[in-house]
Amino acid sequence: MDYYTKTQLKNYNSFKTEALAKIFCQPTTIEELRKCLSDYPHEKKLIIGGGCNLFFTKDFDGLVIYPNIKGLREISDEEEEDEDIFLEVNASENWDEFVAYCVERGFVGLENLSLIPGTVGAAPIQNIGAYGAEVKDVIREVVAVDMETGETLSFSNAECEFGYRDSIFKRTNKYLILSVVFHLKRTFVYVPKYADLNKELEDIEEPSVQDVRDAVIRVRQRKLPDEKVLPNAGSFFKNPYITQEHADKIKAEYPDLPAFPYKDGLVKTSAAFLIDKAGYKGKRAGDIGTYPNQPLIIVNYGSADGNDIVRFMNEVQGAVKSIFGIELEPEVRIF
Ligand code: EPU
Repeated sequence: MDYYTKTQLKNYNSFKTEALAKIFCQPTTIEELRKCLSDYPHEKKLIIGGGCNLFFTKDFDGLVIYPNIKGLREISDEEEEDEDIFLEVNASENWDEFVAYCVERGFVGLENLSLIPGTVGAAPIQNIGAYGAEVKDVIREVVAVDMETGETLSFSNAECEFGYRDSIFKRTNKYLILSVVFHLKRTFVYVPKYADLNKELEDIEEPSVQDVRDAVIRVRQRKLPDEKVLPNAGSFFKNPYITQEHADKIKAEYPDLPAFPYKDGLVKTSAAFLIDKAGYKGKRAGDIGTYPNQPLIIVNYGSADGNDIVRFMNEVQGAVKSIFGIELEPEVRIF
């Protein structure tokens, strides 16, 4: 395994922001991965999977690890019924190829998460979610290396401390995910949860797992920009939680504000709605702007750099804050 210095990271983040990595390597085995951790014990480290949820505002003063460790195996569990399927998948497998693999075999649980960019190893970091499903619902275990001690650890679902677009891996930044163990099922019954998807499936009496995947792909392709054509990192902000009282106040002026009851008197509202009503839907400033079909996504229309993105982010946050009194929190990781 070679180490490279001053490596351009533009092609390793879906926003296409430019930055140099002080050191860069691409381990292809777990042994190589361990070696790069022990070769550079004191360097700051960043693991890039698909690079679909981060961008750079400056050079990375440390070691960037871009693993390419693939593989998948079915684990049989004697104590479980046949209905349950357990798969251990290595971190560098492409997420959507894995979803397609499962759907083709009738394995149930990942179909709503079709077409999300990135790798399997990145999925638990921000607990990817779409159309009423979150990856935490099908994760049994995550195997990761503690980058400080070199120890391999296994995290049960509870130990991953999953939250909305959040986990222990995102919060601490000190684990390198090696593999994820999924718990899938064979029996499928479509449960309507999400309006957009229900509408897409209304003509099918009993949608199959493949029908759901196909419908999700159609909805996503209509709403979301392809990062290969228009560089972006998916939803830029998290959907915010506010008090019921706060929501009622906004509703007095904007009766169609989406508000879904959460817990402790909080409701989850829609960042896309707030950005839209703040006048930022499809708004563009030079090479940076929100996507016209889904204002929650910030798009790089040309050669915007990380600082242009941050400036635009601040502008959107400022507008939403002054109109609605809500602080939008980025979902994307900024380096
Ligand atoms: N809306 C507007 N104007 C628009 C678009 C949307 O007001 O132009 C409002 C509508 O009220 C709509 C609501 O926003 O009902 C929600 O929009 P959408 O269904 O597109 O979903 P979202 O809440 O904006 C979340 C996830 C997406 C995920 C979709 C579908 C987050 C941060 N984002 O977006 O995830 O695909 O739901 O389930 O939770 C990602 O994380 O990168 C991502 C794309």
